Amino acid sequence: MIGDVVGEPGLAILEQKLPGLIAEHNADLALVNGENAAAGFGLNEECLRRILGAGADVVTTGNHVWEKREFWPFLDKEERVLRPANYPQGNPGRGWIRLEKAGVSYLVINLQGREYMTPIDCPFTTFNSIVESQWTGNSDRHPPCSAFGNTPAPDEGNCPALFCRALALVDFHAESTREKEALGYYLDGKVSMMAGTHTHVQTADERVLPKGTGYITDLGMTGISNGVIGMDKTICLDRARNQVLYRMECAAEGTPAVEGVLAELDRDSGRALNLRRIRSFAG
Ligand SMILES: [Fe+2]
Repeated sequence: MIGDVVGEPGLAILEQKLPGLIAEHNADLALVNGENAAAGFGLNEECLRRILGAGADVVTTGNHVWEKREFWPFLDKEERVLRPANYPQGNPGRGWIRLEKAGVSYLVINLQGREYMTPIDCPFTTFNSIVESQWTGNSDRHPPCSAFGNTPAPDEGNCPALFCRALALVDFHAESTREKEALGYYLDGKVSMMAGTHTHVQTADERVLPKGTGYITDLGMTGISNGVIGMDKTICLDRARNQVLYRMECAAEGTPAVEGVLAELDRDSGRALNLRRIRSFAG
């Protein structure tokens, strides 16, 4: 899972690095957050094609996905791009996708936080709704299957559980570390991996939670690593000092890097076995 791609420097380093990372680690699935790819704000068709062309299987997003109105039709047309699932009904696009790759079934879910952000629908209950759309049980009680160490049911072959059928991965695009950790524990034992995005600053807290879910509060970002969250630091400094919301621009100079996390998942149990942070510089 790769953190938010920021502007042209982010796209360029992603194209340079992602194919090699996939090959080097024999990665089965690559998820990339692309919400800042179009000059720092949103996505457009060309940016989406470049991210998919670099090797992403699914492109997740966040609050900036709505910046380019001309891109909205692609949220409906291109199923490999997601917008947070907990935006209210009526918005274009989808917030989750099931896909098969190399004999493994995946469920990728994109959610967005509400603390210090737009008060959209609840990410916790939205997750439950998605799970319930996949099976008929109660998402608060893990279904009777052997996934995540649960006792196998006699009819496990027909078990409707999410994890009998798919490895689930969640991109939680959120500002609040408290909300991110809370959702992490809520999802523990329910999904294979939850990674936070949005802050653009990689956290050093990657771990496997007690019930087997891989977790990191923030993947970091893909772009100029010595700007301010990938943006021009002079403009950001002026914003902070003067408290005027000058339009930010992507950092044009500096050292680009790809940041994210590599997760080893057990396809049978659904558990995360091992996580490793990625911070890969140009060259
Ligand atoms: Fe972002």
